[in-house]
Amino acid sequence: MSKKPIVVEPDPILRKKSQSLEKVDDELRKLLDDMLETMYSAPGIGLAAVQIGILKRLIVIDISKDVEKKKPLFLINPKITFQSKKKSSYEEGCLSIPGYFAEIARPSECHLNYIDYYGKEKSLKANGLLSTCIQHEIDHLNGILFIDYLSKIKKDMIIKKLKKQKKELDKIVL
Ligand code: NI
Repeated sequence: MSKKPIVVEPDPILRKKSQSLEKVDDELRKLLDDMLETMYSAPGIGLAAVQIGILKRLIVIDISKDVEKKKPLFLINPKITFQSKKKSSYEEGCLSIPGYFAEIARPSECHLNYIDYYGKEKSLKANGLLSTCIQHEIDHLNGILFIDYLSKIKKDMIIKKLKKQKKELDKIVL
């Protein structure tokens, strides 16, 4: 496994739609392992492939708080089949939007179909934090970021600050 650099907003790749995968092989599993390591070391609880610059419909998630008992979830080509009318709010952050958090309301329950790490078709019913996390990550596959749910003023302010931070980093990394 190897850790990959995370793409930070603003970056045009984060606005692109990711492509579905046709087959699950060792090469793909290696990529999923790299994504998982990148997510754990960030640290974060979810990561989409586009966040390491790969436009494929791949997500890794681990919402378990216990470092000893990791419970990674790999989602390949996830497709939401149901979203509840009832909503839940969580303070969301994103590895591609470092340092910013906002309360976002999303359907509190979602059902989905996906392909797992071994290429098997699976379905899942998620609620609570897992439901929010899955929907946040699937948004990434469609070029959507959590700041898109904020007012234009708030969103523009965050993007402006991230742009400034990036410029500062460029100065340091010569
Ligand atoms: Ni994110």
